[in-house]
Amino acid sequence: MPHAESVLAQLRARLTATTRVAVLSGAGISAASGVPTFRGGPDSLWEQERPQDLATPEAFHRDPDKVWRWYDWRRGLVAACRPNPGHAALVSLEALTADVTILTQNVDGLHQRAGSRRVIEYHGSLWTVRCTACGREARDERVPLPLPPRCGACGGLLRPGVVWFGEPIDPQVRREAADAAAGCDVFLVVGTSGVVHPAAGLAGIAKQAGARVAEFNLEPGGLGGWVDDFVPGGAETTLPQLLSAR
Ligand code: APR
Repeated sequence: MPHAESVLAQLRARLTATTRVAVLSGAGISAASGVPTFRGGPDSLWEQERPQDLATPEAFHRDPDKVWRWYDWRRGLVAACRPNPGHAALVSLEALTADVTILTQNVDGLHQRAGSRRVIEYHGSLWTVRCTACGREARDERVPLPLPPRCGACGGLLRPGVVWFGEPIDPQVRREAADAAAGCDVFLVVGTSGVVHPAAGLAGIAKQAGARVAEFNLEPGGLGGWVDDFVPGGAETTLPQLLSAR
């Protein structure tokens, strides 16, 4: 039996009704849905723009209209995408073992649209907006948005409800994610380059707490020493194979 198949069979054997599973997902799990990755090939989100020109508080302060045009474009792109079999396999995992927590770095909302019940959005969401004046946060799924969007309560300028480079992760989100990583028996790392912290460090928390760590990626990401098993290939294929492995 080829190595990857035996890894999947052994991993599948670990996934029983009593297994607590946490999944750290990145842009790679949404790639097959048509959502470009950040650091990937020619279709990556950043190829058309430079990250520091868009996803930072300074960029928003300097040119909110430009930042909003990019986010509105991303919202429109994601709204036209659908969850793929990788997202669906993680939903099926919940039928296998009740305790599945998705810790996603993605802001596209595709895990929830696929039906995952417990999703922690570590970097916020494209579908949330927050008022820069009164702080009010709301879900807003309008596509396109009237730009620049204004707060319904106070008329203040809204910002995307995502975590920008240089901004801290919400303390409660960070705590809940760390607890899920520390409390799991199996930690799946799916479609992330593992270069952005503190999200990437969740794999280390899981490993140090005794979990089995398995990475699903086209190529090994930056989590090297924390990974026990590497499953090469597209998550849209390998995650369904995990569920059906025998
Ligand atoms: N299946 C599995 N993995 C894939 C697939 C696929 N079909 N396609 C691409 N990948 C992998 C790539 O090999 C890469 O390791 O997905 C990863 C995507 O890496 P990034 O583009 O860096 O995305 P991500 O890891 O989610 O970035 C983390 O950086 O820009 C910030 O806030 C942003 O949340 C993001 C964070």
